[in-house]
Amino acid sequence: MAWGIGRGDAVFVPSFTFAATAEIVPWFDAEPVFIDVDERTYNMSPAHLEAAIEATLKEGRLTPRVVIAVDLFGQPADYPAIKAICDRHGLKLIADSAQGFGCTLNGDHPLKWADITTTSFFPAKPLGCYGDGGAVLTNDDDLAQLIDSIRVHGKAIARDLEGKTFDHDPKYLNMRIGLNSRLDTLQAAVLIEKLKVFGDEIEWRNRIAARYNEGLRAHVAAVPDVPAGNVSNWAQYTIEHDDRDGLAAHLKAQGVPTAVYYPIPLHLQPAYDMYPRGPQGLPVTERLKERVISLPMHADLTEDVQDRIIAAVASFKG
Ligand SMILES: Cc1ncc(COP(=O)(O)O)c(C=O)c1O
Repeated sequence: MAWGIGRGDAVFVPSFTFAATAEIVPWFDAEPVFIDVDERTYNMSPAHLEAAIEATLKEGRLTPRVVIAVDLFGQPADYPAIKAICDRHGLKLIADSAQGFGCTLNGDHPLKWADITTTSFFPAKPLGCYGDGGAVLTNDDDLAQLIDSIRVHGKAIARDLEGKTFDHDPKYLNMRIGLNSRLDTLQAAVLIEKLKVFGDEIEWRNRIAARYNEGLRAHVAAVPDVPAGNVSNWAQYTIEHDDRDGLAAHLKAQGVPTAVYYPIPLHLQPAYDMYPRGPQGLPVTERLKERVISLPMHADLTEDVQDRIIAAVASFKG
């Protein structure tokens, strides 16, 4: 909304993500263009992105405007490569860090590269509140003001008032169409307290992930691959298995809950299957949807519970 994205604009998004990444695009009559992911990190493939931008330009129907990269399962996207592509083509970059709040790349936050980072405080997220919540982060002061206006029903902001006098309270001056996207005060109170231990929780999650990796590597097709320099917040701990559904049934019988993120990628969803895709298709995404499974992961997972989960996976002979 702040950038005026609309009809005729293309917004490049991964398909291997939650629907929220793409849904905002058709809300403003723009079109999402679905991009495949890297087979190691499950994050947006820079090579596929570049090919899709070039194909979109060649076709000429849509104008490339924005890239939304996702920090899937808590691991940062390849921002240096994606940002270089955005700069070459004059595109804005959003980091959908709903799952990745607290992740870093060589010590830097995604905002080093992205114009805007968005995040979610939904209870299942690493920094979860007790209901719904989220935040938008930017280093651009003007953009921050504009987003603040949109967030509160299009209220007037400092630049709207400059050099003007009013015979009424400008609090009720509406300069643009906005909405209500305030963070509820009670949720903010929860988050302020939880933020104090959040850094420690990321460390604990990393310790658990390292133990999982060590215990599981020999028993599954792939354990998570976090390239050197990346720090994940481990929103999910996701492995691959040739008999994913068999493993899920085996673990359920052993009392270990699992989940599949995501069994239906967005380009195959009824609400989104009419939108364009990158020219190479999405073969990695379509393979992953059959193979991935996420195991229990939270900061308070004790070593004996981790060991029970590792033993349950190891005992699957599928
Ligand atoms: C990748 C991704 N983007 C966006 C969202 C949306 O967050 P919320 O439901 O808090 O709006 C989520 C999770 O819900 C998500 O996983």
